[in-house]
Amino acid sequence: MPRLAGKTAIVTGGAKGIGRHYSQALAAQGARVMIADIADGKELEAHIAGRHGADKVASIKFDVTDEEAVKNLVAQTIARFGQIDVLVNNAAYYSTLTPRNFNEWDTETWDRVMAVNVRGSYLMVRHVAPHMMERRSGKIINIASGAAYKGVPRMLPYVTSKGAILTFTRSLSRELGAYGIAVNSLSPGYILSDTGLENSVHVEEERLPVRNSRAFKRDAYPEDLLGTLVFLASSDSDFITGQSIVVDGGAVNN
Ligand SMILES: NC(=O)c1ccc[n+]([C@@H]2O[C@H](COP(=O)([O-])OP(=O)(O)OC[C@H]3O[C@@H](n4cnc5c(N)ncnc54)[C@H](O)[C@@H]3O)[C@@H](O)[C@H]2O)c1
Repeated sequence: MPRLAGKTAIVTGGAKGIGRHYSQALAAQGARVMIADIADGKELEAHIAGRHGADKVASIKFDVTDEEAVKNLVAQTIARFGQIDVLVNNAAYYSTLTPRNFNEWDTETWDRVMAVNVRGSYLMVRHVAPHMMERRSGKIINIASGAAYKGVPRMLPYVTSKGAILTFTRSLSRELGAYGIAVNSLSPGYILSDTGLENSVHVEEERLPVRNSRAFKRDAYPEDLLGTLVFLASSDSDFITGQSIVVDGGAVNN
């Protein structure tokens, strides 16, 4: 029996990079998946529809920083699937960001990182949570990062934004607990995703040092995250909330 049969999930940033794997993993566990991304998710939608059925998947192009677009995404998900059980706040300004020293960031980039990574997660919760509250159940999974624990240098706005996601998760879990909604974060270590591999600076600066910092001295791939994602989305984790699970091969001692 698939672990997410009858459930509906929204995956922001679900068309590319690691999010693409999240969308596929949730669908493989029986969930209906709304792929929501600033990038086009039609190809992935067709792929998932081919494997699991056209009634199991939809995609929408949206910008997570735009509140009207978020409202429209939520309305379309409910119109199409009737409910929202799982929200994966995965969209981020990450892989296209070029690392630099702390005093070299322009304020426009700083603000955009905060808008996508922090405001975006907030807007999603603001418009998805009321539906979960009505049904008195739900799972919110905020994607943070091991970088926030390590204090990785040369990615200051990004690392700061992911620190915010950890505290956002803690605080929100206390407000939504009364409604039976779990709010947790998943913090991946450095992952060799297709989008990440396109940015050679990340690969040069992070791949070897991160691998050496792990207890398990190997590279990590999106597949390494999927068991934890499905666990947090499923009833197996029903009494867990306000937590951050670091999935990084033991680089961070949380
Ligand atoms: N790759 C890693 O090593 C790593 C490590 C730790 C945490 N993470 C986190 O995991 C998540 C996925 O990482 P990734 O490597 O796939 O990142 P990525 O930058 O490649 O992908 C993020 C996704 O978000 C989408 N997106 C970007 N801006 C958006 C916007 N304004 N509105 C809607 N969608 C938008 C992108 O199109 C993409 O599909 C991110 O939250 C990232 O911070 C990644």
